[in-house]
Amino acid sequence: MIELSHVSVVYRKGEENEKCALKNATLRVAEGDFVIIVGPNGAGKSTLMKVLLCELAPTIGTYTLNGRAMRGFSVTQVARWVGRVFQDPNSGIFPDLSILENLSIASKKGIRGLRFRSCPQKAVTLLSRLGLGLENTLNVRAGDLSGGQKQALAMVMAIISDPKVLLLDEHTASLDPKSSVKVMELTRQINEQFGITVVMITHNMPFAEQYGNRKWRIEEGEVFEYEYRPPLRRTHLETPVVLLRDQPHYEPKLV
Ligand SMILES: Nc1ncnc2c1ncn2[C@@H]1O[C@H](COP(=O)(O)OP(=O)(O)OP(=O)(O)O)[C@@H](O)[C@H]1O
Ligand SMILES: [Mg+2]
Repeated sequence: MIELSHVSVVYRKGEENEKCALKNATLRVAEGDFVIIVGPNGAGKSTLMKVLLCELAPTIGTYTLNGRAMRGFSVTQVARWVGRVFQDPNSGIFPDLSILENLSIASKKGIRGLRFRSCPQKAVTLLSRLGLGLENTLNVRAGDLSGGQKQALAMVMAIISDPKVLLLDEHTASLDPKSSVKVMELTRQINEQFGITVVMITHNMPFAEQYGNRKWRIEEGEVFEYEYRPPLRRTHLETPVVLLRDQPHYEPKLV
């Protein structure tokens, strides 16, 4: 579904201090993959994310998503297919609005206008599965939530319009260990139960070991895959919203 072919990104091209942040990356991510990306500061991890989000066009090479060449697509256009959550817990939410208002706004994002009405229920169902009690405080101002709660809300908002891919750039970095684990478990659920492909950058090595079916390391702009397992395949490819609502402890069977 994601294909990069010989992609390089050069910042300040032609200037004395030009920087090749991504070097000849050729990558394929399949539907259902959960890719973990590690690597030292300045290695090019966020640069790769920016390419996937169409924030940056490759200097050379091509980016294809679901068979479409992405050159010329804007960040807003690609947001139909790609959700994102980054490090700062305040960046993925509207802090002055309530949880419910945040969810409603996120539900209306994207192109599936006819599904507006079903989305808040889906959002509340997702929230209730976090075990953070957020579903009982829907009128609380989002800015008053803890960092972990804000990230959880941001992730629910990011997936509410059914993106194909969720991109996470150090989304647990500013959380305490307990909240980090909760957010990682939510990340796993989003991948395994909703079939959303996840690409996640982390500096947390225990998480890098424990989660994901593919592990990439980026060093000085070069991407290496150091672990691969086939992704878990779900038997329920349809959206599990109704099932979740009817059976709170529903767990899909994995083959
Ligand atoms: N907008 C920019 N203009 C010029 N150089 C940049 C720009 N953004 C990033 N760089 C440089 O490109 C290189 C890769 O940066 P990038 O942000 O992708 O690293 P990273 O792997 O995400 O690092 P970190 O772990 O610190 O987040 C670094 O040397 C950085 O200084
Ligand atoms: Mg970065």
